Amino acid sequence: MNKLNQILSGLCAFFSIQPLVAEASSEAKQYDAFAQQYSDVFVENNQDSITAYYRYLDIPLKDKSVLDLGCGDGYDLSQIHPIGALVYGIDASEEMVKLAQQKNPDGVIKVGLFEEIPFEDHRFDIVISKWAFQTSPNIDPIYHEVARILKPNGQFIYLSCHPMRQFIEKKRKGKNYFKKEIVESVFFDGQITAHEPSHTLNEYLSPTFFKHFTLESYEEGNDSGAEKVDGDIYPSYFIIKARLKDPMSTN
Ligand SMILES: C[S@@+](CC[C@H](N)C(=O)[O-])C[C@H]1O[C@@H](n2cnc3c(N)ncnc32)[C@H](O)[C@@H]1O
Repeated sequence: MNKLNQILSGLCAFFSIQPLVAEASSEAKQYDAFAQQYSDVFVENNQDSITAYYRYLDIPLKDKSVLDLGCGDGYDLSQIHPIGALVYGIDASEEMVKLAQQKNPDGVIKVGLFEEIPFEDHRFDIVISKWAFQTSPNIDPIYHEVARILKPNGQFIYLSCHPMRQFIEKKRKGKNYFKKEIVESVFFDGQITAHEPSHTLNEYLSPTFFKHFTLESYEEGNDSGAEKVDGDIYPSYFIIKARLKDPMSTN
């Protein structure tokens, strides 16, 4: 923690208020420990969700500024750069950012949190994200930030871990869908275990979401790379496509 953060945290604790500067949670930083391992295996293991997600990226991207939140090793950005997108990414993991910069030498990739995006207002045509928001304890701050950095009428496309999957991953009797708990998510045939706070669907489709965005589509699916708890098949991800609302609109 740097000196400024220490002082702010101290003041916030004294006055019982939320800190202004978001701090990376241990869940946000965990990918530092297995960045290369994740990068080596995720494409072959995430084929179902990659295919579904890329259908949403099949839109005019030439000369569009596209920001990937939780960009990981930069694979998705490297796929849209050849068709003319101007690529930007942020990730909480320094190791992931190094890999992403190598894959995207023309891209601007920064270490940063999607709850406090290190870019200026109204900067991007399109914001994308895949398999990342589930790591955040609160989804609403992400929506406020995405609304801040999108240009008017900007597009927002993201894929996140399905709340039903996290419920099943609590793996015990008496589990409570509505209670936020850290879930152990095992994927890629047991090769990686991530820790994520559980979420309800209501947290994703919240009043804050509808304040800022118009929902254009919602899709859910199963990725064979996800752990099959008790052999059950259930949705492991969902994809949301949305558009930034005109702040003057009353709808
Ligand atoms: C499962 S990986 C997905 C990476 C990439 N989007 C993909 O589809 O392969 C999740 C990524 O989100 C990043 N991440 C987690 N919490 C974050 C946060 N609060 N802010 C920014 N990045 C975060 C992790 O470091 C990790 O690289």
